[in-house]
Amino acid sequence: MPPLTNLAVRDIETLVHPYTQLAALRETGPLILEHGKGVFVYDTKGKGYIEGMAGLWCTALGYGNEELVEAASTQMRRLPFAHLFTGKSHDPAIELAERLKQLVPVPTSKVFFCSSGSEANDTQIKLVWYMNNALGRPRKKKIISRLKAYHGVTVAAASLTGLANNHRAFDLPIAGILHTGCPHHYRFAQAGESEDAFALRLAAELEELILREGPETVAAFIAEPLMGAGGVIVPPTTYFPEIMKICRKYDVYMIADEVICGFGRLGTMFGSSALGFEPHSMSIAKALTSAYLPLAGVTVPQPMYEAMLEESRNIGTFGHGFTYSGHPVAAAVALKALEIYTRDRIIEDVARKAPQFQARLSALGDHPLVGEARGFGLVGGIELVADKRSKRSFDAKAAVAPQAVHFAEEEGLIVRFLAGDVVSVCPPLIIAPAEIDELFDRLGRALDRTLEWARRRELV
Ligand SMILES: Cc1ncc(COP(=O)(O)O)c(C=O)c1O
Repeated sequence: MPPLTNLAVRDIETLVHPYTQLAALRETGPLILEHGKGVFVYDTKGKGYIEGMAGLWCTALGYGNEELVEAASTQMRRLPFAHLFTGKSHDPAIELAERLKQLVPVPTSKVFFCSSGSEANDTQIKLVWYMNNALGRPRKKKIISRLKAYHGVTVAAASLTGLANNHRAFDLPIAGILHTGCPHHYRFAQAGESEDAFALRLAAELEELILREGPETVAAFIAEPLMGAGGVIVPPTTYFPEIMKICRKYDVYMIADEVICGFGRLGTMFGSSALGFEPHSMSIAKALTSAYLPLAGVTVPQPMYEAMLEESRNIGTFGHGFTYSGHPVAAAVALKALEIYTRDRIIEDVARKAPQFQARLSALGDHPLVGEARGFGLVGGIELVADKRSKRSFDAKAAVAPQAVHFAEEEGLIVRFLAGDVVSVCPPLIIAPAEIDELFDRLGRALDRTLEWARRRELV
């Protein structure tokens, strides 16, 4: 291993890195990025990488977008900060809320802003509780999420998240958060079960859970249209329609976590539309600003807003909000990003490029290491297995997907490993067709090297 650079040493002596094996990092050091252009980022040694994960599923418009930079600097000069507390306001937040109300495919009365996906999902929970108190049903408070869901890391959002490593040693989940089955047919269908039968079974499981808990105690159901960090899981086409029937039957408020899928990732403005999900509310973040600045939001339907009016009248205030709720510079960047998505027909372009992307992804399914290659639009996941026929997974300790990610980096491609040896790919939406080919060429070479490496270790 080459010696660590001075900057790398300073890093490991000063930073706590999210989602990192902290002890291993002390040996390997970090990959330090310095600048970016288009779909490429460059490290401190000048080596270029295709940013095959759009950062963290977020830099939809790629790097070096001068219009976004300009929107931020103009607003920064004009009014760098103003808040929305106690009846104050500013035009970027007003204009952005208006624009989002036009864009979202669900009836929306108001938009609440915050700065991260976790804050958005925490807010969702609080709004549902607040509403149900206002409606005189104080017992209707439980929230149903799903195994393998990812909804963030704050105390409540991490509880919604259905991944063991977000709970272990953190004393989570908190009470009142339940998890129902994950719609991953490859892993969780019974032998010979069709996708439709699997979807029906999951809906029946959801109904059983609601009945067991008591429908009068179940307030909401939250789901990502396509599950991202849980392993890039695409549900069967009949899954959401079946789930929605159950939620409607028991008056369960439905929340779509559009933090990854929103703003074009699946070739539609929102992922819910691509997957037949009609929620009451959406959580949005990431591509809202193409991640140039932190901004997130929650859409509020009229009946919920009316309940909030009532409750805040009784209490004397709506006691929720963040210093940076609707930050004017972030809002100005979001307005510009939304303008670009529409003006440059970015979403239509994603839909046009998706077949090429999905064809290259699905071809990796033939690789001896790949159990399943799956995806939708411009997002994909490949699940690495020790045995394709039996779908036997590798021992997590063998760290096969991390090794594949390491080889990909050597090949000039940034991808990510997720639990269960899934390698995820989610490039900026502006990726060109030739760059899609280059991305998969590099990923293919990384997989070949991983196979060789695994054979040497007798893992396959
Ligand atoms: C679907 C989904 N929801 C919520 C979050 C949490 O967002 P944040 O990291 O901004 O808190 C993420 C982050 O990746 C996400 O993918």
